[in-house]
Amino acid sequence: MNRAADQTEVNPLREGLSTRAVPQPCSIVIFGATGDLTHRKLLPALYNLAADGELPPAVKVIGFARRPKSDDDFRKEMEDAVKNFSRQTVRDEIWKTFSQSIFYHQSDFADESGFKSLAERLDKIDKEHGTRGNRLFYFAVAPDQFEPILKHLKTAGLNEAKKGSWARVIVEKPFGTDLDSARELNRVISNSFSEDQTYRIDHFLGKETAQNILVLRFANAIFGPLWNRHYIDHIQITAAETLGVEGRAGYYETAGALRDMVQNHLLQLLCLIAMEAPVNLDADSIRDEKVKVVRALRHFAQSDVGANVVRGQYAEGAINGKPVPAYRAEEKVDSKSMTDTFVALHLNIDTWRWWNVPIYMRVGKRLPKSATEISVHFKKAPAVLFNKELSDQNVLVIRIQPDEGIALRMHAKVPGTSFHIEPVKMDFHYGTSFGKASPEAYERLLLDAMSGDATLFARRDEVEEAWAFIDIIENAWSQKKDAPPLCFYPAGSWGPDEADELLARDGRSWRRL
Ligand code: BG6
Repeated sequence: MNRAADQTEVNPLREGLSTRAVPQPCSIVIFGATGDLTHRKLLPALYNLAADGELPPAVKVIGFARRPKSDDDFRKEMEDAVKNFSRQTVRDEIWKTFSQSIFYHQSDFADESGFKSLAERLDKIDKEHGTRGNRLFYFAVAPDQFEPILKHLKTAGLNEAKKGSWARVIVEKPFGTDLDSARELNRVISNSFSEDQTYRIDHFLGKETAQNILVLRFANAIFGPLWNRHYIDHIQITAAETLGVEGRAGYYETAGALRDMVQNHLLQLLCLIAMEAPVNLDADSIRDEKVKVVRALRHFAQSDVGANVVRGQYAEGAINGKPVPAYRAEEKVDSKSMTDTFVALHLNIDTWRWWNVPIYMRVGKRLPKSATEISVHFKKAPAVLFNKELSDQNVLVIRIQPDEGIALRMHAKVPGTSFHIEPVKMDFHYGTSFGKASPEAYERLLLDAMSGDATLFARRDEVEEAWAFIDIIENAWSQKKDAPPLCFYPAGSWGPDEADELLARDGRSWRRL
């Protein structure tokens, strides 16, 4: 649907029952315009939105970075990036029009005058291109750059919008490295932008299937009554990647899998699976329920971390038949590195609904395949009649990626004269059911930020609660004495044996992906 520039607030004709506000014309200023994220994700996302007619016509993109270059140089660089990373083939006529919306602003982040001239430039763009004084500042830079940028945005008056307009800031991860640094980051941001102007990206929330979790749970009456400790035996969440550290050692060595993936993406998925129904679909109603899940996570005593959390690191091995080096042999990785590239956890949510329902999570790099899924394992039917010999349970699998979809495993009689029962699958695939590709997470999230819808962004309290939980584990790992061991696994395997033992101990096993 093509959105006219003068549309405001809610468009009742938007597909289906969508209640999202309409994205507004605006200038998007990207700090870190020449970086990887801009090349791989942001510009391709904006191009795809333009190509699908989803972008308001008056959206202008201003790349802000240190190196001198002209608008045309920057456009050319972005054209190459978009051609490389776009999910759709780039059509020349669309690119030509879209590229005219891209500008470059050269300045050092520490140079106050660069922000003054940015303010002037944005005013000019508003006048010439109808961007209406709306500004979206995208921080695609390392966190240590946030403070000077925020300070200078404020000095230049760019943190406050003129009447009838808005100014918002989108902040990329990592959002701190522990609770203290996250609080400090929040403090620094709140000096310039209020919480309702702040959009903390967790790109997993923008994935189509993650958004569908709430629809699955709350638009289908059959699951509601079953979604609790009476019927659910346990839940597994797996995020597996075949990729290794891929030249990101500088960052990854300070993070590790627990900080990189569990603190944010996996806990966010858990919130969607475990939250209570919100009173309505407002961003804060949903986030109020999500934060309660993180708050209710049972915190480990430091001495219990070893028994409930397995930390692993890949040793050399093979991915798809090709040999790959050990993590410690990767470029710029310390040869004695203790960084976790794999984590498996046994969690509990201390709420009435989830009491004593184990949640098992695992995440890792250099695993045999790339797949993210959540599986809800229901309790067994009574061991009478057919069920005497069946060991399997009913399992509801939500495939976050790839092959997005939902499958329900149940038992059926194998046709024939003898009585034989086997598990079968009812399977829904997004691709075939809807016949169209899902947009990239960044497409949805950018549009939401342009619409002022913060539902799919992490709120301050969610982030801080998540760090409070993660810090206990990190602290236990960093103890000089009695720290839980680092367990090695060959690249291309499903992680260390200890991860299997974590479930075997409870009489369970990881679902095979
Ligand atoms: C990022 C992590 O947030 O998510 C990466 O920093 C990880 O280490 C990536 O590879 C996974 O995201 P996706 O969308 O490719 O599954």
